[in-house]
Amino acid sequence: MSLPIPQPPAIPFIGNVTALDKDVPLFSQVLLAKTYGEIFKLNILGTTLISCNTYALCNELSDEKRFKKFIAGGLLEVRHVLGDALFTGTAEEDGYGIAHRLLMPAFGTISVQGMMDDMRDICDQLILKWARFGPEAVLDPADDFTRLTLDTIAYCSMSYRINSFYTEGQMPFVAAMTDFLIESDHRSTRPRVVQALVGNAKFEKDIKTMTDLGDRIVAERQAHPTEKKDLLNTMLHSRDPKTGKGMGDDSISRNLITFLIAGHETSSGMLTFTVYHLLKTPDALRKLRAEIDSVLGDRPAQAEDFGKMPYLKAVMYESLRLTPTAPKRGVTALEDTTLGGGKYFVKAGTPIILQVWNMHRDPAVWGDDAELFRPERMLDGKFEALPSNAWQPFGFGTRGCIGRPFAWQEVALVLATVFQKFDVSLADPSYTLQIKQTLTIKPKGFFIHARPRTGKAVFYATPASTLRRGAEDSSQVTSTPQQQKGKPLYVFYGSNTGTSEAFAQRVANAAPSHGFSASIGTLDSAVGKIPTDGPVVIITASFEGQPADNAASFVDWLRHLEGSSALPGVRYAVFGCGNSDWAATYQAIPKLCDTLFEERGATRLVSRGSGDAGTAAFFQTFDEWEAGLWEVLVKEYGTAGNQGKESGGFEVRSVDSGKERAVALRQDDALLGRVLENRVLTRHGPVKRHIEFELPEGTTARAGDYIAILPQNPPRDVHRVLARFGLSNEEEVVISATGPTSLPVNKPVKLWEVLTGYVELGQPATTRDLTILHQSAAEEKTKSHLEALKASYTDAVVSKRISVLQILEDHPDISISLGTFLQMLPSMRVRQYSISSSPLWNPSHITVTVSVIADSAHADNALLGVGSNYLANLRPGDRVQMAVRPCAAAFHPPADPRTPVVMFCAGSGIAPMRGFIQERAVQKAMGREVGSMLLFFGCRAPDQDFLYMDTELKQWVEMGVVDVRPAFSRAAEGSEGCKYVQDRILKDRADVSAAYRQDAMFFTCGSGNAAKGIKASLVEIIREVRGVSDEEAMEWFGKVTMGRYATDIFD
Ligand SMILES: Cc1cc2nc3c(=O)[nH]c(=O)nc-3n(C[C@H](O)[C@H](O)[C@H](O)COP(=O)(O)OP(=O)(O)OC[C@H]3O[C@@H](n4cnc5c(N)ncnc54)[C@H](O)[C@@H]3O)c2cc1C
Ligand code: HEM
Ligand SMILES: Cc1cc2nc3c(=O)[nH]c(=O)nc-3n(C[C@H](O)[C@H](O)[C@H](O)COP(=O)(O)O)c2cc1C
Repeated sequence: MSLPIPQPPAIPFIGNVTALDKDVPLFSQVLLAKTYGEIFKLNILGTTLISCNTYALCNELSDEKRFKKFIAGGLLEVRHVLGDALFTGTAEEDGYGIAHRLLMPAFGTISVQGMMDDMRDICDQLILKWARFGPEAVLDPADDFTRLTLDTIAYCSMSYRINSFYTEGQMPFVAAMTDFLIESDHRSTRPRVVQALVGNAKFEKDIKTMTDLGDRIVAERQAHPTEKKDLLNTMLHSRDPKTGKGMGDDSISRNLITFLIAGHETSSGMLTFTVYHLLKTPDALRKLRAEIDSVLGDRPAQAEDFGKMPYLKAVMYESLRLTPTAPKRGVTALEDTTLGGGKYFVKAGTPIILQVWNMHRDPAVWGDDAELFRPERMLDGKFEALPSNAWQPFGFGTRGCIGRPFAWQEVALVLATVFQKFDVSLADPSYTLQIKQTLTIKPKGFFIHARPRTGKAVFYATPASTLRRGAEDSSQVTSTPQQQKGKPLYVFYGSNTGTSEAFAQRVANAAPSHGFSASIGTLDSAVGKIPTDGPVVIITASFEGQPADNAASFVDWLRHLEGSSALPGVRYAVFGCGNSDWAATYQAIPKLCDTLFEERGATRLVSRGSGDAGTAAFFQTFDEWEAGLWEVLVKEYGTAGNQGKESGGFEVRSVDSGKERAVALRQDDALLGRVLENRVLTRHGPVKRHIEFELPEGTTARAGDYIAILPQNPPRDVHRVLARFGLSNEEEVVISATGPTSLPVNKPVKLWEVLTGYVELGQPATTRDLTILHQSAAEEKTKSHLEALKASYTDAVVSKRISVLQILEDHPDISISLGTFLQMLPSMRVRQYSISSSPLWNPSHITVTVSVIADSAHADNALLGVGSNYLANLRPGDRVQMAVRPCAAAFHPPADPRTPVVMFCAGSGIAPMRGFIQERAVQKAMGREVGSMLLFFGCRAPDQDFLYMDTELKQWVEMGVVDVRPAFSRAAEGSEGCKYVQDRILKDRADVSAAYRQDAMFFTCGSGNAAKGIKASLVEIIREVRGVSDEEAMEWFGKVTMGRYATDIFD
């Protein structure tokens, strides 16, 4: 008896059309596979389509005795242009057969090697363009590679120059083709009556644009024949050895367009994805670069070189595995048959889609790290040893890609040349892959810088706190302003959430007052070019022991520098931002930088500073380190400045006292999410909220990911500043700075806008701030108060969160300029919130669960957390600038839904757990087998903040998806006497141990303190079970939880 193939619930007439994302259907296929598993079917307007997602099923389908290529859906629509030509013809059609036999040899490896010079001709045009645009330009690789591959296929196969690199804007052929392919896909899921309303005019116009180009190329060749043995001459003059027939004019034109379409979309996508993967994997990029340099040196690549470049080959294999640019192909059974060893019955003629994207991630073949780009899995015979048909980005059998050798050589040439000539970097280091889909897929919104390798050093700053991506030139904040005088000083930072960047900014701002002229840049901009003409200050953070996004290439480069004199003449100082909650990797990256600089021959100027963001003394530690730094620098470099005076770094000039209202909207619309719901979850006590957003278009998120938002200060606090300085909220100013800054400078801007969005108003004053305020106080009473604050800084200022603003309000006799005030404030940081939903619930919506920080104890000036209050005050319909950030690789629900899961959390730490449980609830509802979930949840009381327990959580408990073990700190009688999560863990230790033995995965989320308590209880269980000492239990904890225990800490 065969099993039914699962299918999502269908709507009458249209079936499952709405189950597919209109813009990127691939996303839906991935989520449907997660929901239903190895196989599922969809009803699209009455036609049943079966999707297969695992290697085992796709391998079974790769058998020409049982299955043949099937042209259905969007591909059937493409036949409107390509007819019986190679891609869309059927084996039974004469036109297809003749073209196949004539053209196959023309694309053999030997023929393709003969095209090398022509390929290089076009490749050089790309190199020239990037070199001409210069190191600071923001380049769009998808666009440039499309120009390159279209020109290459046209020039190599038809000796026709499209000259895309000399055409402004999008090429008409590409525009028509893109719209045509998208429309073809839409038509296949559009009911006929709707199609009639949409009309065909644009579709037909696009077809005409494409066929006109085909006809023009043929006509030009007929008017000007050549002897060249190219593809076009083969089509015009050869005879089919089997039938003796030639190709008719129609067939030539259709095949010509086939080559223009099939021959450039996929290759340009492959090039763009490969550059993306390499930039996100600095280790792979470094190895590739080393191979290119050793094989090619400075000379141009020849076809023979690629055989000596195994790493390049592995990179290309791996890129096509992880991101196959043709992510699916269609077949159908020749006769009624079964799949999966008799499990599923399929009728002959039913379209079956091999979801190549999904099967290229099947853990059965690729292991648990299938989502990682790791060329090593293709090296040293491993590619050759793969199970048959496990890697099939080029299709299969007689209907496999005819252009494979062509694409391979073209892509190898371009990659080798680009990385031989340029240092390539991401324009936005936090960019994560977004996809655009037509018939094929490509990265979307992906931009790079390409700096000629021989060029002089240019450092670029990319604000960690920006969420804006895309064509905006992020490097514009780089600067060594001309008006700065003094010895050069270089400040480099590695920062994800803006703290290290803000500290770097403060060093740079202070530089002029110590006689230095500062440049500021990301660590990644300093790869291979550490300056020696001035001190180098490095301020950097660590994330799970890894570098920040904008320091990844730098750290990889530094790790692989060799020799004890690799950094001669470099004099440096390092300050690390870290958090001791990550005990094993506390300060990992700053330590590494500090040690390696010394080992490679650089000279340390001051001892490494280490700030612990988890403690109250964080800012003070930095202040003290900075003060020590300036002391040493001034002495070592013999500089003199106005040290200690009120720093005149910023000047704020009023240009309009507020009669004209600014209308400029600073956000980039493409990244705006929309609030759909914002409700309170708690009955009383500290407020927690559930907020649902519609994601920005084209954005996706996995359970466990975060959103990063760039918040705004509470209007109350902005008013407080304006009132203290006696300014209007309509005031327009021009800010000029003598040092680099992330404030908007040299252009009129509303003061309200600056105070709302660019600076943190609520941070505690630093000790340096206190010094400046002291110098500017008129009254002795104030001076002595400030001295007292400084004397017991941690208790008096940090713990109470006394801000500069608060001090200014309390002491009207302190007179400082607005510029000085702005200079004291750190730039606005992004805030991160764990996503508390699963894409299986809704792929385009997310929810977050937020604790609103509002200190009711201090009435009027009570602390209002910037991010949480910004979110709390959003209303349905509001637009919010946001970006999805991937969480650590381990903090996702296990790939196999049968794996048991144990979760520990407190308060809003429930957020990611809610997403995990929701994911399993959907999977279970759809009939998948799911493993047990055990949730330990710390709250105050059942009638106060037992989040979601009346609603979703209750439902999931009833479904048998999750077993909830609460711990009520203020109503322990309701939780079996347990006050805290750690108590409940100990009480229910038998269940925790049993889950461990069943290979469960463990997750903890919440504050650092909660995480410490939870860990202590787990160590205690190990101590008991194994009968060992505390120290040994701690050691065991490290061993037994390796790869099975992931934490996410909020503070
Ligand atoms: C990876 C990650 C995921 C996160 N996910 C979530 C999430 O899902 N939900 C969530 O609510 N938060 C989450 N956070 C925390 C969140 O990013 C913010 O830090 C938090 O909302 C506070 O930011 P704020 O701007 O409101 O406060 P800020 O203006 O930054 O002020 C915060 C300061 O307030 C003080 N403070 C902190 N907590 C309290 C308190 N309870 N009472 C009084 N004072 C306090 C502290 O001194 C802290 O430095 C996450 C953080 C990280 C790093
Ligand atoms: C990285 C680049 C490329 C990839 C990933 C790729 C992928 C594929 C795939 C998957 C198929 C099979 C489609 C199916 O089964 O429906 C295919 C077929 C085809 N490809 Fe490619 N291709 C690439 C480059 C090229 C190039 C450069 C050309 C032309 C020079 C080309 C021409 C064709 C043609 C004509 C077919 C149809 C073959 C047939 O049905 O007989 N491709 N390609
Ligand atoms: C997900 C995550 C992982 C972290 N991992 C570490 C770590 O391994 N070691 C460490 O010292 N600090 C760690 N931290 C703390 C950060 O380094 C610290 O908050 C730092 O101030 C962030 O700097 P930034 O704002 O410049 O990015 C981590 C923080 C987060 C949010």
